[in-house]
Amino acid sequence: MKKVLLIGQDGMLGGELYNRLNLYKDEYEVYGTTLQTLDICDENAVLNKVEEIKPYYIINCAAYTNVDACETNYSLAEAVNGIAVGNIARSAKKVGATFIQISTDYVFDGNLDVDKAYTEDMKPNPVSSYGKTKLMGEENAKLAEKYYILRTAWLYGQGKNFARTMIAASQKRDEVTVVCDQHGSPTSTTTLCEIIEQIMKKEPNYGIYHSTNEGFTTWYDFTKTIYEIKGITTTVKPITSEEYAKMNPQSSKRPFNSKLSKEKLHSVGIYPSDYVDALKEYLKGE
Ligand SMILES: NC(=O)c1ccc[n+]([C@@H]2O[C@H](COP(=O)([O-])OP(=O)(O)OC[C@H]3O[C@@H](n4cnc5c(N)ncnc54)[C@H](OP(=O)(O)O)[C@@H]3O)[C@@H](O)[C@H]2O)c1
Repeated sequence: MKKVLLIGQDGMLGGELYNRLNLYKDEYEVYGTTLQTLDICDENAVLNKVEEIKPYYIINCAAYTNVDACETNYSLAEAVNGIAVGNIARSAKKVGATFIQISTDYVFDGNLDVDKAYTEDMKPNPVSSYGKTKLMGEENAKLAEKYYILRTAWLYGQGKNFARTMIAASQKRDEVTVVCDQHGSPTSTTTLCEIIEQIMKKEPNYGIYHSTNEGFTTWYDFTKTIYEIKGITTTVKPITSEEYAKMNPQSSKRPFNSKLSKEKLHSVGIYPSDYVDALKEYLKGE
């Protein structure tokens, strides 16, 4: 029986992962924490919790995820997404735990030719405060020595997310405008949970793994696909990132190319599903 400390139990990903891991009663004994029960910025509290439980795995699903707010509240973003990850990693090293940290496509600048996808060995160069602080989190996660950094993207599940926002918008408007020049892989939390479970089972070499659904799209085409599946007739109008930024001056800069190559994930025998299949599955419950 392996003990798992799951940090961020009430987040969108953390909530689903907590419920799923609890189904493997013979394999995992899961200890979940929330911001109320463990603030990861409190170094002593993190160390005490880790020493008390002595987990085999520590999974960090906690983060400051409001990308636009990270621009105006950099110090909090840095504390949660960057510095606090070091608290967890050092504690993991102390008890010999394997650390699984969730990171993001936003560590890249997105200037790669749009026909190509980023591989794990390409140099990050974040263009937003969220990306910069998550990259700091990656560097700090490596202090654990036994670590997996799983970079995901465009995540949706049981929480506030793009798909729900677009469905809600269609109920109020006849036309929605959506950015058409950013490319990436929408990823369901269910698929990411499956990837995490596979990593825990297979224990491949430590390191960074790009962890999204298969296939690439734009926010504009993703919206059209959501509406098509749901039978929604609202018109989807494409706009450029530049036009969007003019309409939303507070918004953070986002990468044009967020495509993450899954070749490394395939090389360890993990094959995520296509994003359209995952989306169809998700929308059955929406
Ligand atoms: N959402 C995306 O599109 C996306 C894309 C790429 C990568 N990711 C990464 O995927 C992971 C999961 O994202 P998610 O969307 O599931 O996040 P989420 O729903 O925003 O959940 C994050 C959780 O972290 C908690 N938290 C914040 N500060 C904390 C602290 N100091 N100590 C302990 N807990 C704290 C939050 O609590 P409160 O809600 O109470 O503040 C929240 O429950 C994150 O690492 C994120 O960076 C997400």
